[in-house]
Amino acid sequence: GAETGEFSSHGFHNPISPLSLPADRGRCLKWTRSLFSLMFSAPQVDDYHGHKIPDPYSWLEDPDSEKTQAFVNAQNQLTLPFLERCEVRDLFKERMTELYDYPKYSCPFKRGSRYFHFYNTGLQNQSVMYVQESLDAEPTVFLDPNTFSDDGTVALRGYAFSEDGEYLAYGTSASGSDWVEIRFLRVEGAIPLEDRLERVKFSCMSWTHDGKGLFYNSYPDQEGKSDGTETSTNLHQKLYFHVLGTPQSQDCLCAEFPEHPKWMSGAEVSDDGRYVLLSIREGCDPVNRLWYCDLQTTPQGITGLLPWVKLIDNFDAEYEYVTNEDTVFTFKTNLDAPRYRLINIDFASPDQSNWKELIPQHDKDVIGELLHCSLWLYLFVCFLHDVKNVLKMYRLSSGEELRTFHLDVGSIVGFTGRKRDSEIFYYFTSFLSPAIIYHCDLTKDPLQPHVFREVTVKGFNPADYQTTQIFYPSKDGTQIPMFIVHKKGIKMDGSHPAFLYGYGGFNISITPSYSVSRLIFVRHLGGVLAVANIRGGGEYGETWHKAGMLANKQNCFTDFQCAAEYLIKEGYTSSSKLTINGGSNGGLLVAACVNQRPELFGCAVAQVGVMDMLKFHKFTIGHAWTTDFGCSEIKDQFDWLIKYSPLHNIRVPEGDKVQYPSVLLLTGDHDDRVVPLHSLKYIATLQYIVGRCLKQRNPLFIHVDTKSGHGAGKPTSKVIQEVADTYAFIARCLNISWVK
Ligand SMILES: *[C@@H]1O[C@H](CO)[C@@H](O)[C@H](O)[C@H]1NC(C)=O
Ligand SMILES: *[C@@H]1O[C@H](CO)[C@@H](O)[C@H](O)[C@H]1NC(C)=O
Ligand SMILES: *[C@@H]1O[C@H](CO)[C@@H](O)[C@H](O)[C@H]1NC(C)=O
Repeated sequence: GAETGEFSSHGFHNPISPLSLPADRGRCLKWTRSLFSLMFSAPQVDDYHGHKIPDPYSWLEDPDSEKTQAFVNAQNQLTLPFLERCEVRDLFKERMTELYDYPKYSCPFKRGSRYFHFYNTGLQNQSVMYVQESLDAEPTVFLDPNTFSDDGTVALRGYAFSEDGEYLAYGTSASGSDWVEIRFLRVEGAIPLEDRLERVKFSCMSWTHDGKGLFYNSYPDQEGKSDGTETSTNLHQKLYFHVLGTPQSQDCLCAEFPEHPKWMSGAEVSDDGRYVLLSIREGCDPVNRLWYCDLQTTPQGITGLLPWVKLIDNFDAEYEYVTNEDTVFTFKTNLDAPRYRLINIDFASPDQSNWKELIPQHDKDVIGELLHCSLWLYLFVCFLHDVKNVLKMYRLSSGEELRTFHLDVGSIVGFTGRKRDSEIFYYFTSFLSPAIIYHCDLTKDPLQPHVFREVTVKGFNPADYQTTQIFYPSKDGTQIPMFIVHKKGIKMDGSHPAFLYGYGGFNISITPSYSVSRLIFVRHLGGVLAVANIRGGGEYGETWHKAGMLANKQNCFTDFQCAAEYLIKEGYTSSSKLTINGGSNGGLLVAACVNQRPELFGCAVAQVGVMDMLKFHKFTIGHAWTTDFGCSEIKDQFDWLIKYSPLHNIRVPEGDKVQYPSVLLLTGDHDDRVVPLHSLKYIATLQYIVGRCLKQRNPLFIHVDTKSGHGAGKPTSKVIQEVADTYAFIARCLNISWVK
C-alpha cells in the first residue's frame, strides 16, 4: 500500500539500554532454565543418511500439547514486559498511527458496466471494495471486510467477478490462515447468495463466461482441525467446478493427480471464454505444465473430469497465458530465456517448430509480473531494469514496440485494464512517494497518461531525504544492487543506526516500496534504510534466482553479509548499530546470517522464518519449497541443508567478547504457511546454547501473536502494534534515541 503523513513533536525520551536492566536477564535465565528441563523428557534423535541429528525440541512440533502452550505463554511473558518497557514503543505507535492514517486507494477496474476499487480511509483494519456506475459517479460501499468480524481478523482473500459483472465470488480467511471459504454475491444490490465453498487453499477462481459457475481448488478432508493452527501436510489438491445455486457436495471434479500428490493446479478461462487453461505446478519454481480444454468439445457442459489436451507436459519452463485470438495463444515464457520472452503458439499446429516469438528476451531487462493487454491492439509489458520498473507498450499483432511510459525510480505495484477495456490504470510507488495512480485512455490520440490520484504527504518533505542505488561486490565478485534511503547530508562516520532488509529466494524481486514504519525509523530514529537485492530473487531473471537456491543457497547469506560490510565500510553505520530484518524465507536469511556472523550485527528481527531445514517439508505446504531448498531425504541435499539450517548451526561464538546480537523472532499462532514450530524450536535452542552463556548479554526473545498468520490480511491494528514492537525493541537494544 501507500502511505503519507505529518511529523509532529514529541517529548524527548532517553532510551533505556538493555544492558542496564540486569533484572530482565535474571528472569530470562530463570524462565528459560525451567523451560529447558522439559526437553529431557523425550529426547529425539533422527538418522539422516547415517548422520545422527538430535532434535531435543521436537515436542514443540505439537501445537496443541500443554507443554507447547506453556512454552509459548512463558516466552510471551518474558518478551512482552521487555517490549512494554521500551520507551520508544508508545512514541512509535503514536507516530505510526498518525502517519499511517492517510487514504489508500487501489487502481479502479471495470467489471461489466461498473467500476470498482478498494479504499481504506486510513486506519480501517481492512480495505473496503467500492462500486461506481461511472468514474465520475459517487462511489458506494460494495463489500466491507470490516464487517466480517468484530476485531478485523477475517480478511478478503481473492475474488473473481463473472464475465458480465453480475456475480462476485470472494474468499475470506480467518486469523491470517491460508484456509479460505469462498462466498458469493449478486452484484446488483450486493445480495449475498447461499453458496459456500470450504476446504479451499491456494485456489484459483475463474468463471465460465456463461456465468454458470466457477473453477476453484480444494483439499480432501483431513483428520483433526483445519483452522490454520494445525501442521498437517497439504497434498492431493483437486480442481472443481461449482455451479451457482447448488451445494458444494455436488461440485464437479475436473482435475486430480492421484499419482502426484504434490501437484497443484490453477484453471483460467481464456479471454474469449472458449478454452480452460490448466497450469500445473509441483513446487515454487517458475515452471508449469500447460493443459487445456476446448469447452466446445464438451457440449453437455462441465460434468466430470475434463478432456484435457496436454500442450506442455513437463516442468521445463514457465508458460503464463497472456491472451489469445482464436487458436493463436500468447504466452510469457522463460523457455530458453531466463529474462523471459513472449511467444505465440497456434493450438491448431502446436508443434514447437511452429512457435513464433512475439517479443524477444532483452539483453539485460527482465519481463516482470505485470503484463496486460487492451483492445487486442496493445500489450503493456512491465520490465525490471536494475530493480526499477519500466513500462512499455507494444502492438500485440506484430510485437512492435510503440512507446515507453515515463516513470520515476520505483515500482508499478498495480495495473488494471483488460482486453475488452479501452483504458488502463497503473499504480506507481517508491521509497519516498506513497502512491500515484495513472489513467490512460487508449482511444485518445496521442496517448497521454494523466495522474488520476496522487497521495500527498502532508508535513513530510521527501526533498529532505534521498534514495540511492549502489552496487556492492559480494564475496565472489558478483555486483549486488542495494537501495539506501536516508536524510540528505548525513555524516558518513559510522554513527547511524541502519536497518538492512533482504529476502533472497523464490524468484521474488524486492522492488522499491513505501513504508511508513521504515520512514519513521529514518526520520525519528535517525536511521539509514537499506534494501539489498541479493541472489535468489527474480531481479535479473531466472539466472539470479538459480544463483541463490539449492546448492547455491549460501550465496544469499554471503550477499547479505557483504551488504552489511559495505554499509559499515562506507560509514553509513557500524555493527553495533546495525539491524537485519527479513520474513519467511527472509527469516531464514536473518537467522542463518546471525549464526554465521554473530559479531557483524547489533540486532536481528526474523519474522515467520523457516528455521528447521531438515523437516520443513513435512508441515502444511512446506513440501512446495523443496524446489528452492532441496530436501533432507536426499543425501546430497541433506549435505547442503545441514550446513546452514538455522536450528542446526547455533554455537557459542568464539572470542571472549563476541556474543549474538539482540534477537527478536516474531510469529503467529495461525501461521500455516511457515508453521510457528520453526521459530519455537530455534529460540529454544538459541536460549539453551547461547542464552545460558554469561558473555551473552543481548536478549534473545520471541513473540508469538494470537489470531495472527503469515502476514496476508493482517488487520491494520495488528500491523501498527507489530512495527511499534519491532522498532521499540531495536531502539532499546541499540540504545537509539528518538529524534523529535
Ligand atoms: C481494528 O480492530 C481493533 C481490534 O482488533 C479495534 O480495536 C480497532 O478499533 C479497529 N480499528 C478500526 C479503525 O475500526
Ligand atoms: C519470476 O520472476 C520473473 C521476473 O520478476 C517474473 O516475470 C515471473 O513471472 C516470475 N515467476 C513466478 C512463477 O513468480
Ligand atoms: C546510550 O546513549 C546515550 C545518549 O544517546 C549515551 O549517553 C549512553 O552512554 C548510551 N549508553 C550505552 C550503554 O551505550
